[in-house]
Amino acid sequence: AIERTLSIIKPDAVAKNAIGDIISRFEKAGLKVVAAKMVHLSEEKAGGFYAEHKERPFFKDLVGFMTSGPVVVQVLEGEGAIAKNRDLMGATNPKEAAPGTIRADFAETIDANAVHGSDSPESAEREISYFFGNDEICPR
Ligand code: CMP
Repeated sequence: AIERTLSIIKPDAVAKNAIGDIISRFEKAGLKVVAAKMVHLSEEKAGGFYAEHKERPFFKDLVGFMTSGPVVVQVLEGEGAIAKNRDLMGATNPKEAAPGTIRADFAETIDANAVHGSDSPESAEREISYFFGNDEICPR
C-alpha cells in the first residue's frame, strides 16, 4: 500500500552537509518528498516528539542532541514507505547498521545516528501530525 512516513535528518547529518545525499537515497528508492522543513527544535518540541522514551536513561542526551542544531523534517510517501525508509536507514546503532545504509555511511554513535524514521503506521500518523498541518503536505 502507499504509505507516508516521517523522516528527520538529525543535527549530525545536517552539520556534515549530507542533507542532499540522504534525500537523494530516498528519491532513488522511489520515495517522494511530499513535505519538508528545516527547524531548530526547542527542548519542549524535541521532548514531546520522543515522549515515549521519557523514562529511558538516554532521554536527556537524546533531547540535548536533537536540540543541538537544525534538523530537516520530511514526509516521505510511497509503496511501503515505512519499512522502505527503515531499510534505507539501517539499524539504530550505526555500529550494527548494514553496509550501504544511511546510518552505516553517515553516522558515528547511537545518539548521533543521522536519521529518524517512523516505526509503524500508528507512529507515522502521530509523528507527521506533530510536525505538519494538512495544508503543509503536498500530494503528488
Ligand atoms: P530514533 O530512531 O530517533 O529514536 C530514538 C533515539 O534514541 C534513537 O533513534 C537513538 O538515536 C537514541 N538512542 C540512544 N540510546 C538508545 C538506546 N539504547 N536504544 C534506542 N535508542 C537510543
